[in-house]
Amino acid sequence: MTALRTMGLLCLLGAATGAAFALDARREGARARLAFAVARGAEDGWTSRTVFVCDRRKAVVVEGVRPDERLERRKAQQVASLLQELMRFCDEEVTARLGLNEVVTLSVNGRPYVEWVPGSELPFELAHGKVEHTARERAIWKAELDRLVNEGDRLFHSDEIGTNGVACAMCHPDASNTHAETYPKFQTQLKKVALLRDMVNWCIENPLEGQPLPGDDPRLKALEAYMLVKRAGVALEAGKH
Ligand code: HEC
Repeated sequence: MTALRTMGLLCLLGAATGAAFALDARREGARARLAFAVARGAEDGWTSRTVFVCDRRKAVVVEGVRPDERLERRKAQQVASLLQELMRFCDEEVTARLGLNEVVTLSVNGRPYVEWVPGSELPFELAHGKVEHTARERAIWKAELDRLVNEGDRLFHSDEIGTNGVACAMCHPDASNTHAETYPKFQTQLKKVALLRDMVNWCIENPLEGQPLPGDDPRLKALEAYMLVKRAGVALEAGKH
């Protein structure tokens, strides 16, 4: 049964990798088209700054602003709101132009620009539809999360983080008294505001007599994930003592 489940999971991840390759190819295409459009614009003499999101599948071209110019606050807010709206259409390639006259024109999946009032329906049939998470996506996300949390669980119970044979779970069975939801908070031991990872490192250095882990260390991420998942459903209360 367990073997069957493992095989199922491997198939699932295999399929995801295949899909990722197809997506990469599409993104490459999008990037090339966008680079072409931006270069053409520069040749034609108009000046603009382009802001990208979603792996460059979404772009807002702000006309009348130099490529190296900081957007004034009101324009930047307009751009951010536009991007927020476009990001709802996960897989589509959308370029929005914010004109000097403030009129927004849109090109979806390489089609010609048409005028669009933000908030209204998109003036196109979408190729991929709105974002809806499939059962397959959910299964992959859960499997990936479980993998990280299980690694955290393993490290929490193992002596390999320290040097003296002591493990986290010996003092915090089942992650008890780790209170992940209370961070950041002032810690008297550290005499400063600590993040959860600062306390993990404090315990690594003190009871476990180990080397503190750098912020991007996968072991630190796994330990954090384990302690956070143990508090799922508990309200966040930063600063609570
Ligand atoms: C010898 C027992 C001991 C061991 C082993 C130990 N801790 Fe701790 N831990 C403590 C004590 C004591 C505190 C301090 C409680 C306080 O003052 O908030 C603490 C605090 C913490 C806190 C903050 C708790 C809070 O309430 O804010 C976290 C998170 C934590 N430890 C994680 C870990 C991790 C991860 C490990 C393993 C790397 C570990 N601890 C190993 C004893 C231990």
